[in-house]
Amino acid sequence: MQKSGLIHLWINGEDHALAVPAQRTLLEALRYDLGLTGSKQGCDKGDCGACTVLAAPRGSTARGEAILACITLAIDAQDLAITTIEGLAGPSGLDPVQRAFADCGALQCGFCQPGMMLSARALLDRTPLPTLPQIQEALSGNLCRCTGYTKIYEAVQVAAGLRAPSQRAPVQSERAAASDSKAQTVTEIVP
Ligand code: FES
Ligand code: FES
Repeated sequence: MQKSGLIHLWINGEDHALAVPAQRTLLEALRYDLGLTGSKQGCDKGDCGACTVLAAPRGSTARGEAILACITLAIDAQDLAITTIEGLAGPSGLDPVQRAFADCGALQCGFCQPGMMLSARALLDRTPLPTLPQIQEALSGNLCRCTGYTKIYEAVQVAAGLRAPSQRAPVQSERAAASDSKAQTVTEIVP
């Protein structure tokens, strides 16, 4: 059994001192020691992308590249500045990627979304005007069981300013048919 030790993690612009076992993953430290549950625990073995966070060298002003927190040891993340989904929005509100995902209706259950949005943010930081194949390649490590990906790719293009949403979400309700607007007789059912 390996002993616990004090480590320092730089998360969303704040330093955190944690006493964790040497085998603690960055994902476990985020979720269970710091309560940052936006990073999801999907496969827990590097296959699904749900745990994606951004990592840059400490002191860098860039948000950096997408990494998988479930296969990164917390102890090895001490030299990194980590951005999780909780830190993506800025003082002026949602990140354009978050806004575009909402505008395009690019989510259903939402489980994949933190990782998906952070991978998209990493792509747009290094390639502000990506082609569709570049978007597909950048998100190829993030699996989504719900959306079929089309809306997700659209949202990244919207965030990049390459297009407008094809249909804004939430979709407007249809007007009720005329017959529905007539007064209905309600019969009380007495048990
Ligand atoms: S939880 Fe699936 S890649 Fe990390
Ligand atoms: S929205 Fe459900 S897994 Fe992607």
